[in-house]
Amino acid sequence: QTIYLSDYKVPAYLVDTVDLRFELFEDGARVHSTLELRRNPESDETAAPLELDGDSLTLESVALNGAALAAGDYEDRGDQLVVRSVPEQFTLTVVTWIEPQNNTRLEGLYKSSGMFCTQCEAEGFRCITFFPDRPDVMARFRTRIEANKDAYPVLLSNGNDVEKGELENGRHFVTWEDPFPKPCYLFALVAGDLVEKRDTFSTCSGRDIDLRMYVEPRNAEKCDHAMDSLKRSMRWDEEVYGREYDLDIFMIVAVDDFNMGAMENKGLNIFNSSCVLASQETATDLAFQRIEAIVAHEYFHNWSGNRVTCRDWFQLSLKEGFTVFRDSQFSADMGSPTVKRIEDVTLLRTAQFAEDGGPMSHPVRPASYMEISNFYTLTIYEKGAEVVRMIHTLLGPDMFRKGSDLYFERHDGQAVTTDDFVKAMEDASGRDLSQFRLWYEQAGTPVLAISDDFDAETGVYRLTIEQSIPDTPGQTNKKPQHIPFALGLLGQDGQPLPLQLESGDSGAPTERVLELTEAVHTFEFHGVESRPVPSLLRHFSAPVRVRYNWSREQLLFLMSHDPDGFNRWDAGQRLAVDVIQSLVNAPDDAEIDPRLVEAYRKLISDADLDQALVAKMLQLPSEAYLIELTDKADVPAIHRAREAVLRHLAGALKGELLGCYQRHQGSGPYEVTPEAIARRSLRNTALAWLLMIDDEEGRSLAVSQLNAADNMTDRMGALRALVNSGFESDRQEALDDFYNRFQDDPQVVEQWFSVQAASDQAGQLSDIHKLLEHPAFDWKNPNKIRSVVGAFAGQNLAAFHNPDGSGYQFLADQVCRLDDSNPQIAARLVTPLTRWRKFAPSYSDRMKSALERIRDKAGLSRDVYEVVHKSLAD
Ligand code: ARG
Ligand code: ZN
Repeated sequence: QTIYLSDYKVPAYLVDTVDLRFELFEDGARVHSTLELRRNPESDETAAPLELDGDSLTLESVALNGAALAAGDYEDRGDQLVVRSVPEQFTLTVVTWIEPQNNTRLEGLYKSSGMFCTQCEAEGFRCITFFPDRPDVMARFRTRIEANKDAYPVLLSNGNDVEKGELENGRHFVTWEDPFPKPCYLFALVAGDLVEKRDTFSTCSGRDIDLRMYVEPRNAEKCDHAMDSLKRSMRWDEEVYGREYDLDIFMIVAVDDFNMGAMENKGLNIFNSSCVLASQETATDLAFQRIEAIVAHEYFHNWSGNRVTCRDWFQLSLKEGFTVFRDSQFSADMGSPTVKRIEDVTLLRTAQFAEDGGPMSHPVRPASYMEISNFYTLTIYEKGAEVVRMIHTLLGPDMFRKGSDLYFERHDGQAVTTDDFVKAMEDASGRDLSQFRLWYEQAGTPVLAISDDFDAETGVYRLTIEQSIPDTPGQTNKKPQHIPFALGLLGQDGQPLPLQLESGDSGAPTERVLELTEAVHTFEFHGVESRPVPSLLRHFSAPVRVRYNWSREQLLFLMSHDPDGFNRWDAGQRLAVDVIQSLVNAPDDAEIDPRLVEAYRKLISDADLDQALVAKMLQLPSEAYLIELTDKADVPAIHRAREAVLRHLAGALKGELLGCYQRHQGSGPYEVTPEAIARRSLRNTALAWLLMIDDEEGRSLAVSQLNAADNMTDRMGALRALVNSGFESDRQEALDDFYNRFQDDPQVVEQWFSVQAASDQAGQLSDIHKLLEHPAFDWKNPNKIRSVVGAFAGQNLAAFHNPDGSGYQFLADQVCRLDDSNPQIAARLVTPLTRWRKFAPSYSDRMKSALERIRDKAGLSRDVYEVVHKSLAD
C-alpha cells in the first residue's frame, strides 16, 4: 500500500487540546487520553467519520462527551479507531493499555535499561494511543505521569512542570503542560532513576533558561561537552538566525536503546547515549564533533521543525534539510570550515550519490512511499541540506537571512511545505526560483560534462558545461536544473586570474558563481595569456558529478596552488583515485606513479601547511567511494589495489611518517580544538600507515601509545592500527586489555566491537560470529547491532564481498532475525545488499539471491518489504 503526495487532503478533524494521563507499571501502562476535537472548517468532507490511527494498542474504553460509547458506535480496526457519527465539536476520551516492556521496535513508549522513554517520529504516537497521527494536526498537550517513586523518581514530558504530588502505594505524579501547539510526533515522556545536571542560559532578551540533562548515574561525568555544545548552539542561533529559545526549560535525556541518533521533542530532546555522552577518556575527537553537531541539530529544530513544522511526511526535508544545513554552518563556525566541508562532501559523494543511483533513489521531496521510516535518508537530510546551501549561494548571506526571517515570521505555528520555504526565499530576495524547485522534484545526481579550449591568439579560454540527469526509478527525461557553479582559473605561475567575461575587465573577480540553467552553456574568459588550469565546482557549490579530463599534472598543480582548500583536497583525492584505479585495471603493472609519492612526501613534511587540511589530504579515498565511482565493481580487487598503494606510500615515506609522528607527539593538556584534532589525526594516520607495512618501530610506538594514552582518540588510534596490522599476538593482547579496562562502558564497548568488525584482519566472518556470541552483545540494542553487523557489511567490504557469498547470506540471516523484533533497524541493515547492481556479475548474482531469501521470509515487515521489493524490481 503506497501513499502518494498527490492524495494529500487536509484533516477532517482538528484537535485543540490533548490531556494525557499515563499510569506506568512493570507489566504495562494505561493511557487515558482526552481530546478536544472539532470539524476542520477547511475540509470539504462534512460528514466524514472520525478516524484515529492506532498500532499495537489494547482498547479499554471510548467515551464521547463523557458518555461511554456502546460497541456498535465505534469500530476498532486495530490500525484505526473509527467513530461513525460525531458532532461539530466534542470531547473524546480513549483509554488504552500498552506494554512498553515488550516493545522491541523502539517506536512509541518503550523501556530502555530500566527507564521508560518515547520515540514518536514519524508514526510512533499511534503506538501510545489512538490519535490523528499526522503532522498537520497540532494541539496543546497536558501530560500527567504516574509511577512508582523509588524506581522512577524523575518524570518528564514537554513544556513546564505545573503540578506534582504523592499517590498511594509508593507512587507519585508530575503534570507537564506545553503551551505551544505541536504535532504528536514531538510528544515525549521519560520516567526513570536519573541524575540531573543543571546549567543556565541567558537569552538575547534577558530571559534565563533552565538547562537540564538527565542521565543514568554512571554517566554523570559525561555531560559537560553536550551542555557546552547546547549553550554554544543557543547563542549561535540567536546571532546567525535571530532565533531565541521559547520555553523556560530545555531538557536533554540520554537513552541506550534508540533507533536513530536523537529526537527534537519540544523542550525534551531525547538522545541515543552514543550521540550525547562524552569524556576525554571514553570518546574520540570524532565523537566529540559528532555530539556537538547533533546537539546543535536537535536544538535548531526548535525553530526549523517545531515552531514551523511539516504539513505531511513528503515535506520531511523542509525541516531536516534546512536543519542539517544550519548545523553544518554552525560546525563550520566552531571549527575549520574547509575541513567541515570536506567531511560533508565525503559523506554526500560516497553514500548519498550511491543512494541516488540505486533502487531507492527518490527526490528530496518524494512523491510516494510505503513506510515513512525508510525515507529518513541521506537524500532527505544531506542532499536536502545541499539544496538549501545552493539557495544560500544564489541569494548571498544577507538575502538568505531575510528569506529565513520571512519564513519563520510567515509560518510560525504552521505545518507547511518545501514550496512555502522556497516561496519565502523568493519573496524576500526578489529572485525567481521556479526552475530551482526541480531540485526538490527530480531524483538522481546531475552530471556535468566539462570540456575546454584555449585560443592563444585571442587570449580566450572557453569552458563548455553540459548537464544531464540520469534516469531513476519512475523518472526519465529530466529537465535541466538551476545549478550554481563556482570556479576560478589559475595561471601557469599558480596565481588566480581575473575572470573577465568581457574583454578588458581586468578588475574582474578571481572567483565567480556561474548559473547553469540550460542543458549546455559555453563561457568565454578573456585576457588569458596562457592555458590556465581550471578550478571547478569550488567548495562543491552543487551536489553534482563533474566529468573533466584532468591530467595528473593539473591535479598536482591544483593540490599545491588552488586557493580554495576544498578543491586542493579534491585534486588530491582525484589523483589518488586515478592511481588506484589504474592499479585495479592493470594489477600486474605494479608501477605506482612516483609523483603521488612526492606529493604525499611534501604534505607530510611541510610543517607550514594548514595541518587540519593536511590531515584530511592524507586520507586515501575510501573503498566505498572507489566502489561508487566504478561500474561493475570487483571489491576484493579494489581493496587489494588500495592497500597496495597505501603500503607503497608507507614504505617509501617511512622516514617522513616517523618524523610526522614525533612532531605531533602530544604535549600539554587534552583539547578539542581544530589544531589539536589535526595533530592527533596526523599522528594516528602516520601510525596506521607504519603498521600497514608491519613496521617494528611503528609497532612499539603503537604499543606504548596504547598504554600511555590519556584520551580515547589516541588509544583508539593505536588499537585500530594494531588491529589492522599483521602483528597478531599484539592485536589480541591489545583487544583483551582494552575490553577489560572498559567493559562497563557501553559506548566504549561499541567502539571495541566496531574496530574489529570493520577490520579485514580481525573481522572475518568467523570472527563476526564470535562477536555476536560475546556477552556484551545484545540483539535488543541497535548500537550493538550497528557496531557489529553494520560495521561488517558497511565498512569491512572485502570480507563482506567474499566471493563465496557467505557475507551476503550472513547479512540476510541477520535481517530476517531482526525483522520481527525491530523492523526499522532491519530495513536499514539491508542497504548494502540493495546495491547489488553495482557489482561484477559473480557478486551481484549472489547478492540478489540473498535479497530473494529475505523477500520470501514469512510475515515480512512493511519496512523491509519496501526496500527489498524496490531493489529487486526491474
Ligand atoms: N527528527 C530526528 C532528527 O533528525 C530523527 C528521527 C527519526 N526517527 C525515525 N524513527 N525515523 O534528529
Ligand atoms: Zn533532524
